[in-house]
Amino acid sequence: MERLDKILANLGYGTRKEVKSLVKSGAVEVDNVIVKDSGMNIDPYSSIIKVDGEEVKYRKYIYLMMNKPAGVISATYDNHCETVIDLLLPEHQAFNPFPVGRLDKDTVGLILITNDGELNHKLISPKWNVDKIYYAEIDKKVNEDDIKAFENGITLDDGYKCMPGKLEIKNANDDGSEVYVTIQEGKFHQVKRMFEALNKKVVYLKRIKFGKLELDESLEEGTYREITKEEFEMLNNFK
Ligand code: URA
Repeated sequence: MERLDKILANLGYGTRKEVKSLVKSGAVEVDNVIVKDSGMNIDPYSSIIKVDGEEVKYRKYIYLMMNKPAGVISATYDNHCETVIDLLLPEHQAFNPFPVGRLDKDTVGLILITNDGELNHKLISPKWNVDKIYYAEIDKKVNEDDIKAFENGITLDDGYKCMPGKLEIKNANDDGSEVYVTIQEGKFHQVKRMFEALNKKVVYLKRIKFGKLELDESLEEGTYREITKEEFEMLNNFK
């Protein structure tokens, strides 16, 4: 059981005070009866709540898949830069969501945004080794030696030896290559630094998969949607 004002405030219908006057105005029904007491306790899962005649979809957690654009940072708040949270509608911001893991400011592609701390913890914990797959464009010709170096574990500039990764070449030319990179870790600038260790430079980086969750390519950069039930299952069965 939860207070009606708390339920509606958490769903983005305003502050508790605003919700109180909304309820007072007669705009809110519980199980088809107009209610005037915003402090009443109800079970949000079994009661039907309507605001202005429209049924309210109650849930505790939201799970959003965003195609992150370049120039936006994957944080909840920043003094100077726009964040992925700034791109959300107020009704989604009301859940106080945060991005799962980090992408660099200039990296684009799949980022999951949720307020489910437990799932976040599972997905970013080194214990679970969740695969992250990136499409990358490299300034030089990528070759078999690079594939082997990824397999053996690349040592970064600070001496850290990465876990084995997978490098697949889509095409490779002297003036640049397109590749797919699969890694499980998420060290700071990891993919870029792995290529730097091989004397190559990442010129474009896009995350296309996180665990079993694939980026919906129909999402334009900067847009997002809620994940489906099936995608939610896939996300939870990441191995
Ligand atoms: N590796 C990077 O270098 N940058 C990212 O944003 C993600 C992985």
